[in-house]
Amino acid sequence: MIDTLDEAIADIVHQLERGASQRKSAMHTPVVATQDADQRIMVLREFDAEQRLLRFHTDARSPKCATIGEGDPVSVLFYDSDTKTQIRARGNGRIEHYGPAADAAWEASTTFARRCYLAQDAPGAVSDEGTSGLPEWAEGIQPSEDQVAPARENFAVLLVTLDRLDWLYLANSGHRRAVFTAGKQGWSGNWAVP
Ligand SMILES: Cc1cc2nc3c(=O)[nH]c(=O)nc-3n(C[C@H](O)[C@H](O)[C@H](O)COP(=O)(O)O)c2cc1C
Repeated sequence: MIDTLDEAIADIVHQLERGASQRKSAMHTPVVATQDADQRIMVLREFDAEQRLLRFHTDARSPKCATIGEGDPVSVLFYDSDTKTQIRARGNGRIEHYGPAADAAWEASTTFARRCYLAQDAPGAVSDEGTSGLPEWAEGIQPSEDQVAPARENFAVLLVTLDRLDWLYLANSGHRRAVFTAGKQGWSGNWAVP
């Protein structure tokens, strides 16, 4: 059982770091919500505890990028039934299309991952038939670096700087909830009724 607020914030950091690094963790695929009441699953690529930063990859043409733009409220909802923990994270999101974070993320991606960004039309574009959106030649192949190079213009990162964390731990003996807000001295927290 977690008994102190220090342990609770350490647990959040641990679980988000694990979510970013372990593909099988439930924390790897949180729900990302935008201020237009839309929400979607995204893969958590990185959690930088020091910077309080979450990184996601996305198609620069997708509607969420227009909504978030250079800065907008974003919330991210995590639940792991193994650890019985819900984390509701809130912060300021921004889309970086070209810049150090987007360039580094693109460089670190496999050609298979980059292939997604070859889609000819924007995510959400209406199609006459069921489609992957990819050009026919790119379907079912592991493309070369040259083949995926044009996809860079469709690739962007979503960076969310967190300012609020709401941690809920489920236990038969009694649930526990703690809320943390970011300040100059780091996270400051209080217990809350679950
Ligand atoms: C398991 C899973 C992982 C996904 N990962 C991502 C992701 O990392 N980035 C992304 O933009 N969309 C991802 N999607 C698709 C989004 O949920 C969503 O359908 C898409 O981004 C549409 O864009 P919009 O939310 O701007 O309309 C994922 C979907 C699923 C089911």
